[in-house]
Amino acid sequence: MPAPVLIEGHAIVSDDDRIADAEGRMPRVLMNDADWRHFQMRLDAATITALGRKGHEAHANPKGRTRLVVSSSAAGLERRADAWWWNPAAVPWSDVARRLLPEGGRVAVPGGTDVFDLFLGIGYDEFHLTRVIGAEVGPGAPVFRACDDGIAPEALLEKAGLRLADQRVLDPVGPVILSVWSRSV
Ligand SMILES: NC(=O)c1ccc[n+]([C@@H]2O[C@H](COP(=O)([O-])OP(=O)(O)OC[C@H]3O[C@@H](n4cnc5c(N)ncnc54)[C@H](OP(=O)(O)O)[C@@H]3O)[C@@H](O)[C@H]2O)c1
Repeated sequence: MPAPVLIEGHAIVSDDDRIADAEGRMPRVLMNDADWRHFQMRLDAATITALGRKGHEAHANPKGRTRLVVSSSAAGLERRADAWWWNPAAVPWSDVARRLLPEGGRVAVPGGTDVFDLFLGIGYDEFHLTRVIGAEVGPGAPVFRACDDGIAPEALLEKAGLRLADQRVLDPVGPVILSVWSRSV
């Protein structure tokens, strides 16, 4: 029996399901201290953080977390000085998981959009979806591509086999509400 590898997504979204503005930047309305603390705690608990190349380049890694950077520039799965780099078109996830997580573990996925979509196809075990109620971003990056067709992320997670397992107010201002979607409910 192979060791379990659990995949956990993390996104903070506006009412219109955006994670970033039209310039690809995180808008101020989506920056929330309570959500940041929750996010950092979950990253600390993860074995690996799997993120897009732009996010990797934009965010330093002061804690030296093990990163898996998704990029079409990677020659399959390769170890570079800063991280593991992975091209999903060249190496399937099952090979990556076997190589990087031989004893199992937890993979945190902080996006962006195409990385969220990639792991939606692979299969999330949990997705931590934070909503900033009342925040509108307008044109920008959706959490999942299908949100651009008017499909809510909650509907996509449900369709992918997850169920709402927990919901709590992270910040009464907004309010900012965390919903934890889980496969094991
Ligand atoms: N609100 C939130 O929760 C949240 C979450 C995540 C990000 N963000 C924000 O969103 C912005 C960055 O997100 P982003 O989507 O622009 O960038 P990103 O996901 O960090 O990076 C995009 C890059 O990842 C690589 N990539 C993604 N999927 C791939 C695939 N299936 N195969 C091969 N390569 C793949 C590509 O790199 P190559 O070009 O090298 O091929 C692509 O250009 C930032 O402002 C960030 O703060 C917000």
